[in-house]
Amino acid sequence: MLHILFFLSLLFYASNGAVQDFCVADLTAPEGPAGYSCKKPAKVTVDDFVFSLGTVGNTSNIIKAAVTPAFATQFPGVNGLGISMARLDLAPDGVVPMHTHPGATEVLIVAQGTICTGFISSANSVYLATLKQGDIMVYPRGLLHFQINSGKTPALAFVSFSSANPGLQILDFALFANNLPSALVEKTTFLDDAQVKKLKAVLGGSG
Ligand SMILES: *[C@@H]1O[C@H](CO)[C@@H](O)[C@H](O)[C@H]1NC(C)=O
Repeated sequence: MLHILFFLSLLFYASNGAVQDFCVADLTAPEGPAGYSCKKPAKVTVDDFVFSLGTVGNTSNIIKAAVTPAFATQFPGVNGLGISMARLDLAPDGVVPMHTHPGATEVLIVAQGTICTGFISSANSVYLATLKQGDIMVYPRGLLHFQINSGKTPALAFVSFSSANPGLQILDFALFANNLPSALVEKTTFLDDAQVKKLKAVLGGSG
C-alpha cells in the first residue's frame, strides 16, 4: 500500500512539477525572504534577457572608478539563474576599494588597460597580480579583494558572479561611512582617533 502511494505521489510530481525555465524578477511585486517574485511568463519578453553594459561609468568621484551592476535588480532576467555581471571603469589611479561579495565567486576579465588586483584568503595569504587586456582572475566567494588601475590610461573590466545577487560590502565604507561611534571604530581597528575622524570626514561617516 505504501509503495503504491509513493508511486502515485511520484506520478503526481512528474505531471505537476513542470520545470520552470526562468523566473524573471517582478520588481513591482513585494520581495519575499527568497527574493523576487517571478513575472508572469506571458508578460516576459526578450528585453528581460538583454541588458547593456556599453555605457562608460562616471569616474569623477573620490575613488576615480565606477561599478555598473547588472544584478537581478538592474537586470531582472538573471533572477534565479545564479549568475550576473558588472562593468568596472577605472580612470588612471582609480581604485575599487577593498570589498567582498558575501554571496558569490567572481571572475574578472580585463577589456582595456592594466589592473593591479588581488584577494586575501581567510588564512590572510595574499594573492596579487597585475592583469592586462584579455587576462582573467577569479576571486573566491566572500574574500576581500580590490582593483587598482596601475596604468596611465583608463581601464575597463567586466566581471561575472556566481549569483544574481552577489551583494557588495566595501570595507572602508563599513568602517568609516556610517554612524558606528568613533570610539568603537578605534577600539576594534586599533586606528587612532585622528585617522578615524579623517576617514569619516572623507567618506561621510559620523559619530
Ligand atoms: C559625473 O559625476 C560628477 C560628480 O557627481 C558630475 O558632476 C558630472 O556631471 C558627471 N558627468 C557625467 C557625464 O554624467
